[in-house]
Amino acid sequence: MAVQAETLDFNDLGFMYRDLPLRYVSTYKDGKWDAGKLVEGNQLTISESSPALHYGQQCFEGLKAYRTKSGDVQLFRVDENSKRLNKSAIRLLMPEVPEEKFIDAVKQVVRANEAFIPPYGSGGTLYLRPLLIGVGDMIGVAPAPEFMFIVFAMPVGAYFKGGLQPARFLASFDYDRAAPFGTGRAKVGGNYAGSMLPGKLARAQGYTDVVYLDPATHTKIEEVGAANFFAITHDNEFVTPKSDSILPSITKYALLYLAEHRLGLKATEGDIYIDQLDQYKEAGACGTAAIVTPVGAITVKGKDHVFYSETEVGPLTQKLYDELVGIQFGDIEAPEGWVFQV
Ligand code: PLP
Ligand code: COI
Repeated sequence: MAVQAETLDFNDLGFMYRDLPLRYVSTYKDGKWDAGKLVEGNQLTISESSPALHYGQQCFEGLKAYRTKSGDVQLFRVDENSKRLNKSAIRLLMPEVPEEKFIDAVKQVVRANEAFIPPYGSGGTLYLRPLLIGVGDMIGVAPAPEFMFIVFAMPVGAYFKGGLQPARFLASFDYDRAAPFGTGRAKVGGNYAGSMLPGKLARAQGYTDVVYLDPATHTKIEEVGAANFFAITHDNEFVTPKSDSILPSITKYALLYLAEHRLGLKATEGDIYIDQLDQYKEAGACGTAAIVTPVGAITVKGKDHVFYSETEVGPLTQKLYDELVGIQFGDIEAPEGWVFQV
């Protein structure tokens, strides 16, 4: 049953699924996409043999719509989500979704569920989940005969409980998120299924999530389970891992730009060695859902490495957060092309 907007507390949303009245669905059949339309009801009927269910032939995206002070609604770098979905699709032999269709679908879903966009100042946003799945009768390991492109939405608050409260992470030496030449760069479900067990084990020990290391040598930080990673050196260099097996985070590239052009820091993609964390005074996790979450400490083989503080956000992490969120909510001027009006 679709949720009623009046029953929601927009100041205390958490990050959870909510069934909204309308979503967009389009089908790819006989080599082409249909026009797509908004539909009611959150249930799908698909063949039990759909390759999305058996072999993980599926990929997805995550982005947000923001209510500005003036009441307008805007999207942040939605063109980049479209490009990344298509890269994931190519990796899994799925048809690309034309950029115009992707952006139009997202805008339709935002407009159709307008009552669920949290008000400016609540800290909440409307999270959008575009999804591409291989469906139809196919039991061999081969591409699906048909595909569905779906976009649904839900109002959300902070992904990591506590928002700008520093979080504790556990460096994983026993589990990898992705293989060196695997699908780590693509936003595909299999990467996340594999992260559930290490994530559960870490949370059971009181950690927020896992920090994964490079799968070839286990010496360098890759990313956390649902966000990229960055750290700031004692001489003010913003560093974020460069690796072919991490998700190319749109938030990370935004922060690289903002660190350099708005905060005047040196900003690079490079190596962050797990045994050299004392070079860094601050660290954070970044992503659409995570926004900027300060990393208070990482436990490495039983030993805690504390960055700025376990209770307070560091000053540069705070500035990066303020700049990014200010742009996303329309309070600070965005670099050209970053903001799309709905
Ligand atoms: N890394 C992983 C594994 C993610 O799931 C996400 C979330 O999308 C990110 C990084 C951050 O990417 P983005 O900033 O594009 O949301
Ligand atoms: C996002 O930040 O959009 C993500 O996809 C993270 C998600 C796995 C919760």
